[in-house]
Amino acid sequence: MNLILMGLPGAGKGTQAEKIVEKYQIPHISTGDMFRSAIKEGTDLGKKAKAFMDQGELVPDEVTIGIVKERLQKPDCEKGFLLDGFPRTIAQAEALENLLKELDSPLDYVLHVDVPQEKLVDRLTGRRVCPECGATYHVLYNPPKVEGKCDNDGADLIQREDDRPETVSKRLEVNIAQQQPLLDFYEDKNYLVNINGDQDINVVFEDVDKQLQTLA
Ligand code: AP5
Ligand code: ZN
Repeated sequence: MNLILMGLPGAGKGTQAEKIVEKYQIPHISTGDMFRSAIKEGTDLGKKAKAFMDQGELVPDEVTIGIVKERLQKPDCEKGFLLDGFPRTIAQAEALENLLKELDSPLDYVLHVDVPQEKLVDRLTGRRVCPECGATYHVLYNPPKVEGKCDNDGADLIQREDDRPETVSKRLEVNIAQQQPLLDFYEDKNYLVNINGDQDINVVFEDVDKQLQTLA
């Protein structure tokens, strides 16, 4: 099962990705997560990415394409993959298309989690994440059992650097501009499946899952 998960910042890609990979046992490849762990480890990649991410800008294509190429060639991707947050530009989509041709591993679906733009600011500013296991919560829409603590490991939840209100509006602006041409790109190739992301988290997953069961 070869999947791409698309959607604006805060649409629920990461939230749905957790559920998809748990059920279908495919690797979750999130470029955002890869950059955040590189920043945490202080690698060269992290240093390159940080300045862009802190401003809400995209990390340059050559850097992003490079890390995805390397990742998709690892053996665990032979059973499938879920790309989350990649591609985000037409150049990235074309590079991916070429790579998947070389690997003889065609896409199945591009799932677009669609949420009205006016809801996204609330979702982003209320998000809290676990620094230990990466789980995502929301102070109102998906609160942990104990306030401020991860359900999985009890770690103190934190707010992502780029979820501060100043950065959120820039991220939305940048991503709104990039997204439509990509949706058109995949619609033309008949990969695109629109999912209504403006429903309860579990209902969104039911819709995703119905679509994925067509592949079983
Ligand atoms: P990335 O980490 O990919 O962030 P993003 O696309 O901005 O998406 P988010 O992680 O913010 O949102 P999400 O859709 O996963 O939402 P979530 O499930 O958490 O990228 C970060 C940065 O890295 C970029 O800005 C860029 O700089 C760089 N980057 C990454 N990839 C790149 C690329 N390919 N090229 C260039 N640069 C790249 O949900 C959000 C909140 O809403 C949570 O609190 C959640 O609990 C809640 N929620 C989720 N679903 C629902 C629901 N159905 N109802 C109510 N609440 C919900
Ligand atoms: Zn945790």
